Formats: sequence, C-alpha cells, structure tokens
Amino acid sequence: MNISQEQTSKTVDSSTRPSSFVNHDRLNTRLADMAKIGATPAGGVNRAALTPEDGKAQLLLVQWATDLGLKVTRDAIGNLFLRLEGTQPDLSPVVSGSHIDTQPTGGKFDGIYGVLAALEAVEAIVASGGVVSRPVEVVAWVNEEGSRFAPSMMGSGVHAGLRSLEAALNLIDVDGVSVRDALQELEPLFESVAQRPLGLPFYRYVETHIEQGPVLERDDLAIGIVTGIQGKHTFRVTVNGEAAHSGTAPHKTRKDALLAAAGMITALSEAFVDPEDITRFTVGRLIVEPNAPSVVPQQVVFSIDLRHPDQEYLEQLGQVVPETCQRHAGPCDVHVERLYTAKPIAFDHQLQDDIEAAARALDLPHIRMLSSAGHDAGPIQSKFPAGMIFVPSVGGVTHNETEFTHPADLTRGTQVLADVLWSLSKEGVDA
Ligand code: GLV
Ligand code: MN
Ligand code: MN
Repeated sequence: MNISQEQTSKTVDSSTRPSSFVNHDRLNTRLADMAKIGATPAGGVNRAALTPEDGKAQLLLVQWATDLGLKVTRDAIGNLFLRLEGTQPDLSPVVSGSHIDTQPTGGKFDGIYGVLAALEAVEAIVASGGVVSRPVEVVAWVNEEGSRFAPSMMGSGVHAGLRSLEAALNLIDVDGVSVRDALQELEPLFESVAQRPLGLPFYRYVETHIEQGPVLERDDLAIGIVTGIQGKHTFRVTVNGEAAHSGTAPHKTRKDALLAAAGMITALSEAFVDPEDITRFTVGRLIVEPNAPSVVPQQVVFSIDLRHPDQEYLEQLGQVVPETCQRHAGPCDVHVERLYTAKPIAFDHQLQDDIEAAARALDLPHIRMLSSAGHDAGPIQSKFPAGMIFVPSVGGVTHNETEFTHPADLTRGTQVLADVLWSLSKEGVDA
C-alpha cells in the first residue's frame, strides 16, 4: 500500500488524531515548490541566507500561512513565526520549525522539511477539527547554515540569548555585506508582516529534520528520536605572507601564505586522526589572495569545523588548533580566531518520551540516537525544553545536491510531529 492509499483509508477510520489528517500530497508538493527557489542544474538547491532566493522562499511560506489563517510575525533578526492561536493565548506556545537557507551544494530537504512539516502538522490539527488550547507556532529560523554569514544557527542563537542581536547584525559575508544590510534589502517584502519582540518564551520546541546520516535507512527504521547533538568548534585562520613574483622571488626569501596554510591543514588533520572516527575535522573554505597563478600567495584565510560529542575532549581538541597553526607558520604570521563553540547538548527527556509514545502509537519503528549534525534545536534547548524527530536520509547523503528522503518517510515524520504538537498544546492548561 502506498502512503496516499494509506492516507485515504486512515481518514475514514474513527481516529481523530491529527496524524490521520496529514496530507502527503500537499506536503510533498510544497517541498517541490520550495525546491524550485534556488534550484541548481544538478537537482539541488542553493539558497544562501538573506539572499533574494531566501526572501522569495520566506514569502511563499508567508502566503501559505496566511491562506491557512495563521498570524505571521517577524523579529529583529528576521526569524519568521506563523501562529495558530490557542483558546488560551496568554500561555507560551508549542513551537516547531527549522530553517529555509541551504549550503551552496544543498539539497531539497535539509531545513525546509522541518519548516513545512510543522506547517503541515498545524494544517492537520486544523483539519482534524482540533482547537488548540496553547498557541502552536511554526518558525523559520534565519541563517542556520552559517555558510554565507558565519557562524551558523544565527537566528536561533539570538532567540535563545546565546549571542546578541548587535553581534549578529554586524556579521559580514565574503563580499563585506553585513547581516544588517542584507535584512534591509529584504525589508520591503515583509511590509505587511508585524514585528514581534525578540526571544519570546516557548513552552516546548520540537524540530523535524532529515537524519543526514546512514543509521535509519540501514536499520530499516522510520523515526529517530534525537537524544542530543555533538559539540562543535569553528575557527577562522588568517595566514599573512607577502606577494612576490613567481619567477623571480627566490624560495629562501618567500613568505608563501598558501604553503604555510597547507602545512597547518596537513598537521591538523594528522593530529585529529581518530581510529574510531568520532572526531570530525573539516577545512571547507580556503580563500587565497591575490589568487593569481604568477603571484606568491600573500594571504590565506581558511575555516575549521571540528566536532566531537564529549565536551571535555572537544575542549582539548580545540586547544590543539592555535598551537599547531603557530608551529607550521614558517616565515608567515598566523592569526587564529575561535568563532563559535556549540557545546554538546542533551534534549529534554520528557520530550524524547513524548516523541517515542507518538511513534509507537503510529506503529512506526524507531530508535533513540545522537545527532552528528548541528540544528536550531540545539541553541533552543539551552533556554527552553526541546526535542527532535529524524526521518531517514537515503545513503546518509547531505550538504550535497543529490540529498534524498523518500516522500513516505517525510510524511511519517510529519505524522509523529502532528500528534506530539497536538498533545503538547493541551499540557498545563486550565480545564
Ligand atoms: C548544520 O548544517 C551543521 O553544520 O551541522
Ligand atoms: Mn539543517
Ligand atoms: Mn545543513
């Protein structure tokens, strides 16, 4: 039986759980519509934070939410909130969502699935005739990926108070454009959207996301109940040498910034070799100046992304970075900045139990698992109880244009989400 048939038969049974009203076709059509915004020739999506494509995708989301009668608000850093009002509007809301931005070689699901699953869950609650006591909000966090404006998880970090609004507004991309200016550019799109104060409290936050790893598919499981997220350091390393003629400058006198950077990267990757493959070390960006074939490189700026689930060990690993870079600087100067540290986090235990209960009630095979990727739920857990639902990623492929999750799996994750949001919306409510 395919999921559309399953859908039809479920809506005629006596169940009034919102999961029975999750509309498989609507969810997947919306995902396909969003994937057209920033679509790449190789079938992926390139929708960097606060670009015109990001703005266009946000606007489409606002349109769908408005059609559904949700109230749309936006905060000073550009996070978007879509609210299904509750009968007790003064109670803090149950919130679900994720992000709209992608990596340059992004796929069709990382982030946007969590936003559209939340919208679909709200739509299913409405379709089931359910009237929520607590408000239920869908959120689209701004700049989760950190690929245009580093570091990542900017909007959720500001919401949780982990970084100041001012610091976030002052971040710049490689062309020197600030978050403040990029937000200003998009401002006319949101003229009809009301502003809301930053950091309003949540009752609970639940984020649905593709796993981005191989576990669920390999073990034939539908749902991952996420126990926590491994920790991460990000660094920016600037190596300053001296420009010189590639034909005339003797090697002895050169200050070649690229050769020095290559030595640092090789030494770091050797220092972080882990036979158990738990430590993850990546240099994903290298900017060479002047980047001309006949000029000895004057400056190199490179990124470091370093992850491990154990906080103490991650701290020790982080200390290796500046000393190793200094040791391999040769005749160049090196400056190492630690941009961001996300400590390993553990999600709320009760929420894990709630997600598990919903998966079990739907008869969906599930497992508890740690997330190796970062998510907005991480910063949010530092302030409010948070949890996550994973669905399988084919081959574990992600941050890659071929990223794929079977539509039926996307629907199953959304069904679990709908039932969890529904039951949370009734918690702590006066009779
Ligand atoms: C999010 O995409 C991360 O970097 O883990
Ligand atoms: Mn993501
Ligand atoms: Mn991502």
